[in-house]
Amino acid sequence: MIPGDGIGVEVTREARKLIDTLRAHAGLEAEVVLHDFGADRYLRTKSAITDAEMDALGREHDAIFLGAIGDPRVPDNAHARAILLGMRFRFDLFINLRPVRLFDARLSPLRDVRNGDIDMVLFRENTEGPYVGMGGSLRKGTADEIAIEEDIATRRGVERIIVAAFDFARATGRKRVTLTDKANAMPNVGGLWRRTFAEVGARYADIEREAIYADALALDMVRRPSRYDVIVAPNLFGDLLSDLAAALVGGLGLAPSANLHPGRPGLYEPVHGSAPDIAGTGRANPMAAMLTIGLLLSHGGHEALARRVEAAVEYALLENRTTPDLGGNLSTEQVGDFICDAIVTGARSPERDPQVGV
Ligand code: NAD
Ligand code: IPM
Ligand code: MN
Repeated sequence: MIPGDGIGVEVTREARKLIDTLRAHAGLEAEVVLHDFGADRYLRTKSAITDAEMDALGREHDAIFLGAIGDPRVPDNAHARAILLGMRFRFDLFINLRPVRLFDARLSPLRDVRNGDIDMVLFRENTEGPYVGMGGSLRKGTADEIAIEEDIATRRGVERIIVAAFDFARATGRKRVTLTDKANAMPNVGGLWRRTFAEVGARYADIEREAIYADALALDMVRRPSRYDVIVAPNLFGDLLSDLAAALVGGLGLAPSANLHPGRPGLYEPVHGSAPDIAGTGRANPMAAMLTIGLLLSHGGHEALARRVEAAVEYALLENRTTPDLGGNLSTEQVGDFICDAIVTGARSPERDPQVGV
């Protein structure tokens, strides 16, 4: 576990408590190792993470959990790029899986939605796009400054995330895969995505496919969120749309994610950042981090435990045991305690639909 910065530290404490609860009461066998990568260490040592430490992280763990990285004392975010993007790139974690589900319709800013109406899974490409750092600056700080950030797409990179999205749809009985891009304005990269999507999609005759421009999808996700099922997106659009999608179901306090490369240790993190605006106040919602542990358990083969985590979070939501972002008045720690207690006692909502989850 890498607690990281700001509320990353606070929500990781609750994620850790959840693992300890599952070890004590549900037969989970797991060893937790804590790592101090983050702004404090970076500012102290000038090293965010060394190559040797990065390799050891990948070698010595079955899964990595990250709270959040980002600190106002590091305004250029250099340590976050080194640690977070560093792990995504170095371990080639090309799938950024971001499930979005409406547990409780009262938490949605939308009218006329019911529990469970929104249930989509974003497959965000995680190793290419403008994130790779190809580019540079000329005449920096002058009136003639030039800045370039290239958008990189490779056939292999595009194909593997699209295949992952279709495979997932087929394996989980989902009906439709939606591609989003800006092929109208950026036809080189967009064209590669569209052609690859059509070619790969043709091999999945049982699954419907459609392509929609990212601006139109941003609108339609708000207008008709329940029609979206599996969405596959290039890195940057996937970043933007996953925050938007999270807002539809209650916000970043409820959004888990996994960075994956099948066969390798995954990197699990809440979608949210270090939230310097609320860090240290006890207002951070730990549910995203705890649902992220659910994802980690599910991918680790502990499906029943993952379901128990989800059920306990859902119970807390339906019982209004929440932090202020969801209208409650509990602290991070109190919400974490309530969820862990619900796991121990098995308390759950009678309304719960038993067959949910990814
Ligand atoms: P953010 O996600 O930290 O916060 C956005 C808004 O959502 C804030 O108002 C915050 O208070 C709220 N919020 C986020 N998580 C919450 C939670 N669990 N409970 C309650 N409210 C929550 O995004 P930002 O403000 O753009 O970024 C802050 C820092 O985090 C930046 O340095 C950014 O680069 C970094 N960041 C890191 C990650 C990561 O490590 N995975 C992800 C996103 C942003
Ligand atoms: C996320 C974050 C990161 C990203 C930042 C912190 C680099 O916003 O995980 O969604 O853009 O991928
Ligand atoms: Mn983001």
